[in-house]
Amino acid sequence: MALPPPSKSSTALITGASAGIGAEIARELGRRGHGVTLVARRRERLRELAAELSGAHRVRAEVIAADLAEPAERDRLAAAVEEFGLAVEILINNAGFGDSGELASTDRERVVAMVRLNCEALLDLQARYTPAMVERGRGAVINVASTASFQPIPGTATYAATKAFVLSLTEATHAELAGAGVTATALCPGPVKTEFVDLAGVGGAEENLPGVFWTGVEEVARGGVEGADRGKRVVVPGLINRVGGLTGQHSPRMLTLPFVKRLWRQAT
Ligand SMILES: NC(=O)c1ccc[n+]([C@@H]2O[C@H](COP(=O)([O-])OP(=O)(O)OC[C@H]3O[C@@H](n4cnc5c(N)ncnc54)[C@H](OP(=O)(O)O)[C@@H]3O)[C@@H](O)[C@H]2O)c1
Repeated sequence: MALPPPSKSSTALITGASAGIGAEIARELGRRGHGVTLVARRRERLRELAAELSGAHRVRAEVIAADLAEPAERDRLAAAVEEFGLAVEILINNAGFGDSGELASTDRERVVAMVRLNCEALLDLQARYTPAMVERGRGAVINVASTASFQPIPGTATYAATKAFVLSLTEATHAELAGAGVTATALCPGPVKTEFVDLAGVGGAEENLPGVFWTGVEEVARGGVEGADRGKRVVVPGLINRVGGLTGQHSPRMLTLPFVKRLWRQAT
């Protein structure tokens, strides 16, 4: 099952394209000749990337600034895409953020906002765009999850729970879409040096986690796009992350919870 071929009337809609993994996935798709629709809050960053991609690859690159945590902004996004006359044949649900700290002492509004972006917005966009993909008999969704999807993480409980939601939703819809010409792929990176690290308040990990645990942003983006092109259900870039993911999923919680709790404290 390959990615839909590039065409003048279709686009790859990428959320969180103003930085990090989303920007790099946009570059990867641009290199493959796909027109892109770049979405995030920072319009200027999106414009710069759009100019880079249309200059380097002669692809159509649209920019829509939107706060995806707001339902009305998502309606406005969908209306703008329709006005462009573009069909979303590839959807990259990547926008998201993390945190660090125990739930009992956390900022309540921040964790609720995290669920609205990491889960609600992602679900909304997938539910908006997959029916037309199924009708056309072609389409691909990449939902950016994390190795945090594979086990609960004391110290970042809400973030890990949002990513467990993303993985579960994606795996189930991958099965639902079988035979429809449409795929859903969960991209599950381990630690990647992007703005995410400081925004999540886990900057200490850059010193505390040995280099072997980090994956380059280009490798993550390429892995996600290549995995979707092969119709894969789950992509975990990096051997160490694949081993960690399997261990996290299959070990008894009574062993993993204290281990992961200690690891998170030491790493961050
Ligand atoms: N970096 C890691 O270690 C890591 C590991 C595993 C998974 N991930 C996941 O990978 C995804 C991308 O993360 P990243 O590392 O590339 O982080 P990043 O560099 O901080 O990028 C996050 C992107 O999301 C956008 N965004 C944030 N809030 C938004 C909102 N309310 N509305 C619209 N866009 C919003 C940001 O743009 P604006 O600020 O311009 O809106 C930015 O483009 C996230 O889902 C993250 O959970 C990251």
